[in-house]
Amino acid sequence: MTDDIDRAWWKEAVVYQIYPRSFNDTDGDGIGDLPGIVEKVDYLEELGVDVVWLCPVYESPDADNGYDIADYRSIDPQYGDMSDWEALLDELHARDMRLIMDLVVNHTSDRHEWFRKSRRREGEYEDYYRWADGTPDEPPNNWESIFGGPAWSYDEVREQWYLHLFHHNQPDLNWRNPAVREEITDMMEWWLEKGIDGFRLDAIDHLAKTEGLPDGEPADAMTGSEHYSHAPRLEEHLEVLTSVLDDHDVMTVGEMGGATVEQAAEYVGEDGVGLDMIFEFSQSGIDRGEGDPWDLEHFGSWELTELKEIVSHKQETLAEPEWDALFVGNHDQPRIVSRLGDEGAYREESAALIATFLMTLRGTPYVYQGEEIGMTNSTFETLEDMDDPGAIGHAEQLVESGRVDSFADIRDVVNYWSRDQARTPMQWSDEPHAGFTDGEPWLPVGDDYAAVNVERARADPDSVLHHYRELIDLRHESDLLVYGDYELLLPDHEQFFVYVRTLGDERALVVLNWSRERATLDVDVDAADAEVLIGNYDDPPADPDGSDFRPYEAVVYRL
Ligand code: GLC
Repeated sequence: MTDDIDRAWWKEAVVYQIYPRSFNDTDGDGIGDLPGIVEKVDYLEELGVDVVWLCPVYESPDADNGYDIADYRSIDPQYGDMSDWEALLDELHARDMRLIMDLVVNHTSDRHEWFRKSRRREGEYEDYYRWADGTPDEPPNNWESIFGGPAWSYDEVREQWYLHLFHHNQPDLNWRNPAVREEITDMMEWWLEKGIDGFRLDAIDHLAKTEGLPDGEPADAMTGSEHYSHAPRLEEHLEVLTSVLDDHDVMTVGEMGGATVEQAAEYVGEDGVGLDMIFEFSQSGIDRGEGDPWDLEHFGSWELTELKEIVSHKQETLAEPEWDALFVGNHDQPRIVSRLGDEGAYREESAALIATFLMTLRGTPYVYQGEEIGMTNSTFETLEDMDDPGAIGHAEQLVESGRVDSFADIRDVVNYWSRDQARTPMQWSDEPHAGFTDGEPWLPVGDDYAAVNVERARADPDSVLHHYRELIDLRHESDLLVYGDYELLLPDHEQFFVYVRTLGDERALVVLNWSRERATLDVDVDAADAEVLIGNYDDPPADPDGSDFRPYEAVVYRL
């Protein structure tokens, strides 16, 4: 039976995402760096991950912490130099680990040479970006930026407007221009030749824009997105990107903030565009409230039954022959324990439950730095303490539009959603600044670092960290957990998230008591001879059916 499996190394891998700025600083400037990552490669090996996804380390003025690239073929000096990057690649490869790079090609920095030349209409660069006519007081259309405010800025040099779906320092490239496409594919080849193992492709559902740049339907947020997410010609642009990969044994995961699960399924698999996986976000919006991403009343509330529905829909839609990218956090998502877990009394139990969930679904799991020790959200007292241009942009827009009087009225929602929550420094120890730096960290360390840190977690055999290691080991040994089909049980139960994974005649039962209360399981599965594979409490129930599960108890059984 197992001979029929459509295997791939990237399906069997666990990926670890590093946000270099916040990972480990070795030169005391308060910003993480490449030698800092090299120093921690043994830690990653011990954790058991197979692939590192490195967020951008290219030269950048940091309007959006590296997602505004000024030179695609360079390393920003704050992170080190190309030899430091090569040392990282070598250290990873020496341990049979791989490295994937973040490819940000919807836009560049406005400091990129191409944009500087484009503003001056120099030669072939004239049409490298999306320029449009209009008087300085009237943008060409009503599109809104994903970071809040208009998606257009007026350029005094060229006396035209340019499009930026993100920050005004991140002008959108013109993907209709063959010269742009060639620049990008050449650059990808260049990185592939250096020996990397794949790409995480940033914001790729926005590469195409509706021809003629028409007004969008007015919306609560992001007016115009129907013209800049999944617009005609997107497939063609994506195929240009993936054509470069044909002769390389690499993995790709595309970030699509605006995709539905069905759209994600269309881009992957045999009939897709050559991408291996898509980051799709239906699950991440569960605690957002209705429609408006900055819903001031309903943020933070969510229902387990809805989570089950979303996850099951995704697992079923991306079932064989498709493949999913599994994640509960990343550098854009506030900490999961503070959102869907319990950052108080059950921090460790809920973090371990969420880990079990992440590692036992069908797809490739992505662990975001700090998740493995159960890091939580912090408190930012003022807007000045924050760095995230998205949070700041939206907060300013809420105040300017008159919806609220001041930041104080929205501090809670902005704290809840700010991407800075994911970017506070990695907590290595209880030393000053959590052992992240000898200098002043660029963003303050989390409030709880004295208790929540790697050193402490390593010393405690019951820690979340050890649970992650064991889960990763288990997954590495189990075709069933990697490739097995998914079936949800008890869809309406308000405390239990229970599912069965099946591969041939092998079956596993995953029981998650996703609540602060004990609960008794009543499930229609013959589990009398079940074997416990892993649990996050001592002495888990031997026969799950009819047994009591403790708060946030998570157990995986072989049936
Ligand atoms: C993606 C990145 C995010 C960045 C944006 C613009 O969503 O994950 O961090 O701000 O693209 O590049």
